[in-house]
Amino acid sequence: MRVLGIETSCDETAASVVALDGDSAPEILSNVVLSQIEEHAAFGGVVPEIAARAHVEALDGIVEAALGDSAVSLDEIDAIAATAGPGLVGGLIVGLMTAKAIAAAANKPMIAINHLEGHALTARLTDGLDFPYLLLLVSGGHTQIVAVRGVGDYQRWATTIDDALGEAFDKTAKMLGLPYPGGPNVEKVAAKGDASRFAFPRPMKGSAQPDFSFSGLKTAVRQAATAIAPLSDRDVADICASFQAAVADALGDRVARALARFGQEFPDQANPALVVAGGVAANRTIKATLEALCSEAGFQFVAPPQKLCTDNAAMIAWAGIERLRAGMAGENGADFVPRSRWPLDSVSAPLVGSGRRGAKA
Ligand code: KG4
Ligand code: ZN
Repeated sequence: MRVLGIETSCDETAASVVALDGDSAPEILSNVVLSQIEEHAAFGGVVPEIAARAHVEALDGIVEAALGDSAVSLDEIDAIAATAGPGLVGGLIVGLMTAKAIAAAANKPMIAINHLEGHALTARLTDGLDFPYLLLLVSGGHTQIVAVRGVGDYQRWATTIDDALGEAFDKTAKMLGLPYPGGPNVEKVAAKGDASRFAFPRPMKGSAQPDFSFSGLKTAVRQAATAIAPLSDRDVADICASFQAAVADALGDRVARALARFGQEFPDQANPALVVAGGVAANRTIKATLEALCSEAGFQFVAPPQKLCTDNAAMIAWAGIERLRAGMAGENGADFVPRSRWPLDSVSAPLVGSGRRGAKA
């Protein structure tokens, strides 16, 4: 089985070919990702119109490069899988139209993929994990804990009631005058800071509601920064370190709760695993916190390589293979309309006031 994947839901233009032969391990034959960070940096965040235009300009070349790198011809491809949501609708239209056109011209099926499903199934591509397992998705657009029970069978156990975690990192960075994207810069500066100088709140810690919240923490950072302005480099480093410590602590509390619930709901899973995905999973303080929690709770900690944790098309191609293999490729992707909002789990009702209002909705 060979599937061409296309991803254009935010600010990465990506294409990839993934192959699965019989019972052997799947193989990523190509994985081309073009980041638009430079196009958006001057604006301190992703600008939807610029993103859509950049996708239009780049996608054909990226698909060609992915096919070229894989040494697989379009004839040998079994299906085209493209991200159809959630995300910025302009980019989704570009990716989906391109995929539909290729599928029509080459007479291949087209599979519409939920971007979150791509993240959710990556650990099966990289680590061959068996269902069920727990997924923590922490990116610029999402902060969720999902029980991954099977292909197309996901249950969201927690989400953010306000900002996504990556968004909180990016806004904190902006407030402190650090360049975009904020997360990696906050981490870098935090390494030189004193994490005990500011006692920032740990939102939702100990709450019976399983969800996340980060906007109160962001406000506390703003107030602390305003109170001692103008900020020295030392102040900025201490604020970043204290912010990161608060985030790791709050996140750890939420995840510990989910690990316990997983143990109760899936007592037969002898090798429970927590998988992390999303750009924030690169953060070493957060990773160390999660690793410690997992070893305490007897969970395997799975962090796929960074390139497959952040947005890419290999995860979309792989989700296409999973769906083909399970006979769940859908009726006809060619009729699929892009969805800027598309919850992975149709059961969990959206939280009041929740959800992404910004670029990575
Ligand atoms: O998954 P991703 O590349 O893109 C999407 O949001 O879809 O995640 C990007 C987010 C940004 O908010 C970025 O600031 C954050 O991940 N991020 C980090 C780190 N590296 C990236 N946050 C904290 N620490 C990091 N090292
Ligand atoms: Zn993503």
